Amino acid sequence: MDTKVLEALVEAARAVRTHAYAPYSGFQVGSAVLSDGGKIYVGCNVENASYGATICAERSAIVQLVAAGEKSVAAVAVFVDGESPAMPCGLCRQVIAELGPRALIVTATPRETKRTTIELLLPEPFVFRRDR
Ligand code: THU
Repeated sequence: MDTKVLEALVEAARAVRTHAYAPYSGFQVGSAVLSDGGKIYVGCNVENASYGATICAERSAIVQLVAAGEKSVAAVAVFVDGESPAMPCGLCRQVIAELGPRALIVTATPRETKRTTIELLLPEPFVFRRDR
């Protein structure tokens, strides 16, 4: 994938991170997803007093992509300000795999960037088949 596009994706994740609502953990996360159509959608984590109602940055970005009428995820960027890049949680991996089974994952801090793929992070995701 084009380096400039991936740089723009990481920059979009960095920029949206400050919008995160994380009063409980204090851990702000920004994410940006690239659609197969080449558009970028952003999201941040939104926590809740009922902790389980929290949505991660990655899923909040994917919700924006779908709400805009798109259905496929080519790449996901995650940005945090911490010791090391944050890896998408298990729930987010399942959601990424649904819409982006070949998605590239780029996760960054101001000091370090890691690249991987959803196939490496979630081998054999659950897929729904009515005839199971
Ligand atoms: N979080 C994300 O938004 N994305 C990740 O990849 C890891 C975890 C959020 C959820 C919660 O608001 C906070 O980080 C601490 O778990």
